[in-house]
Amino acid sequence: MTFTTRRFVQTASLLAAGLVLAACGKKEAPPAAAPVAPAPAPAKVYVVGTDAAYAPFESQNEKGEIVGFDIEVVSAIAKKAGIEVKFVNTPWEGIFNALGQGDRDMVVSAVTITEERKGTMDFTDPYFDAQQLIAVKENSKVAKFADLKKLKVGVQTGTTGDEAVTKLLGKTSTAIKRFESTPLALKELESGGVDAVVADNGVVIHYVANNPGGKFKTVADKEFVPEQYGIAVKKGNAELLGKLNKGLADIKADGTYNTIYAKYFGAAPAAAAPAAAAAPAPAASK
Ligand code: ARG
Repeated sequence: MTFTTRRFVQTASLLAAGLVLAACGKKEAPPAAAPVAPAPAPAKVYVVGTDAAYAPFESQNEKGEIVGFDIEVVSAIAKKAGIEVKFVNTPWEGIFNALGQGDRDMVVSAVTITEERKGTMDFTDPYFDAQQLIAVKENSKVAKFADLKKLKVGVQTGTTGDEAVTKLLGKTSTAIKRFESTPLALKELESGGVDAVVADNGVVIHYVANNPGGKFKTVADKEFVPEQYGIAVKKGNAELLGKLNKGLADIKADGTYNTIYAKYFGAAPAAAAPAAAAAPAPAASK
C-alpha cells in the first residue's frame, strides 16, 4: 500500500469512527454485546517484591528463577490462603517505595520488623529470628562489634546492619562503605576493600560456607539486638495481612513451616522460643 493510500484509509477510518461516535451521542448506547458467557474474572495475582541477592532467603538459580527460604514460605502461605503470588526481583533500595506505591502487593526479603518501618508499612507476624553477624578475614583481630570502630566496614545500604554500624561509627563516618547488595559488600571484604561486613547472620553464614576461598570467619556479639523477619504489606492493607497471617499460622501448625526450615537450616527452629526473651546464643567467635 502506498503512503497516500494508507493515509487515505487511516483518514477514512477516523471519519467513520467519528460518525459512529456522533451517532452514539444522539441515540441511546449501542446494544450490549450478545450475552455470551462472561469470561471469568482472572484471579488476582499478588505481586511479591524480593531482592533476590540474599541467599539462602532469596536468590536466583542458574535458570533465573527466584528461589529460597522466603520464597517457599510465602508460596506455602499463599497455597493455604488460596491466593496466587508472583515473585518479582526488586532492588532493596526502593523496595519499600514500590510497596507504598502499589507496584508490589507485598515484600518478602528477609525484612526485619522495626518500629521505624512499622510507621510506613504493616508486617505479618514474625516468621524468622535473626541477628547481625560480623564477617572478617580469617586473620583478623576483630573479636567484638566495638572493635570495628577504627576499621572500614561494609554494609548493604538501608539495612539493619547499616543502622547498627552507623550507630557505632557515627552518621558522618567515611569508614562505612555502603553497597547495593550484601554479596557485593562481602566480595569487597574478600578483595580487601573493607575490613569487615555486618549483615544478617543467615546470609553471612551461607556466604562464608559457600566461599571457602575467601578465607572468612564470623564474629558474633550479644550487643546486636535480636531481629525478626516479617512479610510487609502496604500500610492499611488489612485484608491481605489477615490472609497472610492466617496462612502463616496454618503452615506453622501443620508442619509445613518446619519442613521448609529444616531444608534450609538443617534443624527445626527451637520450639516456641520467643527470640526477644530467649537467652542470647553463645557467640560463635573464639
Ligand atoms: N534484615 C535486614 C533488614 O531488614 C536486611 C534485609 C536485606 N534483604 C535483602 N533481601 N537484601 O534490614
